[in-house]
Amino acid sequence: MRVELDRERCQGHGRCYVLASAVFESDDDGYGVLVSETVTAEFHDAARKGAGNCPEDAITIIED
Ligand code: F3S
Repeated sequence: MRVELDRERCQGHGRCYVLASAVFESDDDGYGVLVSETVTAEFHDAARKGAGNCPEDAITIIED
């Protein structure tokens, strides 16, 4: 699985990195950034949870 985070859509709600800190983290201003574009199987559910809870739909999941 891969994830993309659209920096232009992100408004810094922070749900992604609160709910799925293995996949998303905060930059210095509270906006979301990816820990890694590639997500290993053990973190797939976390990635989906983070993406599904972003109010701006800024996160896209790309299933392999
Ligand atoms: Fe940004 Fe959405 Fe996360 S607005 S900080 S990508 S929950």
